[in-house]
Amino acid sequence: MYFIGVDLGTSSVKLLLMNENGGIKNIVSKEYPLFFPKTGWSEQNPEDWWKGCTEGIKELVNGFDASEVAGISFGGQMHGLVVLDENDNVIRPAILWNDGRTGKECEFYNKTVGREKISELTGNMAFTGFTAPKLLWMKKNEPELFAKIKKIMLPKDYIAYMLSGVHCTDVSDASGMLLFDVKNRCWSEEMCALTGVSVSQLAKIYESYEVVGTVKPEVAKFLGIPASVKVIAGAGDNAAGAVGTGTLKHGMCQVSLGTSGTVLISTDNYAVDPNNTMHTFDHANGKYHFLGCMLSAASSNKWWMDDIIGTKDYAGEQKEIKELGNNSVFYLPYLMGERTPHNNANARGAFVGLSMDTTRADMTQAVLEGVAFGLRDAVEIARSLGIEVSRIRAIGGGAKSPLWCDILANVMNVKVDKINCEEGPGYGAAILAAVGCGVYSSPEEAADTFIKVTKTIEPDAEVVAKYEKRYKVFKALYPAILPCYDSIVECE
Ligand code: XUL
Repeated sequence: MYFIGVDLGTSSVKLLLMNENGGIKNIVSKEYPLFFPKTGWSEQNPEDWWKGCTEGIKELVNGFDASEVAGISFGGQMHGLVVLDENDNVIRPAILWNDGRTGKECEFYNKTVGREKISELTGNMAFTGFTAPKLLWMKKNEPELFAKIKKIMLPKDYIAYMLSGVHCTDVSDASGMLLFDVKNRCWSEEMCALTGVSVSQLAKIYESYEVVGTVKPEVAKFLGIPASVKVIAGAGDNAAGAVGTGTLKHGMCQVSLGTSGTVLISTDNYAVDPNNTMHTFDHANGKYHFLGCMLSAASSNKWWMDDIIGTKDYAGEQKEIKELGNNSVFYLPYLMGERTPHNNANARGAFVGLSMDTTRADMTQAVLEGVAFGLRDAVEIARSLGIEVSRIRAIGGGAKSPLWCDILANVMNVKVDKINCEEGPGYGAAILAAVGCGVYSSPEEAADTFIKVTKTIEPDAEVVAKYEKRYKVFKALYPAILPCYDSIVECE
């Protein structure tokens, strides 16, 4: 029996074929474009996702007995607004999780309505990347398009809809819409009313491992898979990643070094950060998780490597970095503004501490360290909530770099566990499909069976002490530059 896991990311879709024993049989990846129509805006075409998925699925099963495919599920980039009209046409490009255009709309929720009220209704406050502020933005700026909206959905749910014809979503992804009552796992009528949408425009809610339907016969034929293939709701990419790394038990922590950088902590009970800096979301196993999200993590390194110094040899550049902890250059990773902890769409990146002695390697190192410091900000919030973070499981493209994992361990003073499978959301999605098809009774059972720690990176006390000192400097830099950010944005 095979299960397909779809990791619908920001730079590409990664598809994974898994057998019932958790063995990965094939992986295929398809890239698609990302558009920045204005500084701070970020959009993608849902049609490009669908094209990537269909081409990818065909390639994925090629050479395997496709009649053995039993289920398909998803880990999707969160918060993106996908809107369809009454004929199921996409009304406008999707507005993504790292789009910063909704500053005013967030003020409406957080100030006019009030953060406490919004938090009481949803478990969260408004952030520019969340979905509801984007709907408010459309209502004000694109009223004709807003009036055409028949169905509102999230990125992965568009793929589930195209496959099955069912307008569905899951609790973990719905949690990031700001239209959802995270505590009670249902839509908030009051948030819908404040936003000017109705529950009938929203999807039916499922737990991440629940079956929503089967693949439509004509789509199954086109893809070369049986029409009996079950479509399982899936999860937001961080929660799906946590299924794929086995970060499901109370207090476990996962760090993702993808386009975004996230710190996810599983909790058995519903709890809210009093400042709402960490998000409270439903987890893919029926429980909850805290999530801190920085907007430009591995994308900071990609920007520095590809666009600025013009190389694809990431490992070669990192070989030049000799000593951890000693670097007078600091990098602030706020290329797309920042969510956790600053919630400031106008924040911008910076290099500070340059001298005539500064080398290219120092700057590369500063980028890796700056991202690790930014992630530590989220870990510190978790620690302030009384959560002990002493071990993490790292996933995402960036975690493939042993140096970056070493930096993480030392900046945070935590052990970084490497596991036998670091495919994250795609693997988690395949596991959710296997659970939905009844092969395993729960995500925990499957994860306990498949996932093993293979190596642990230990922090080094001397390096930790050096980073402790540098983290203090990093923390002081954002407030120092803050008074200039609005004027900097005016220059754009
Ligand atoms: C989480 C978030 C990002 C996206 C990236 O809140 O916005 O991690 O899910 O795909």
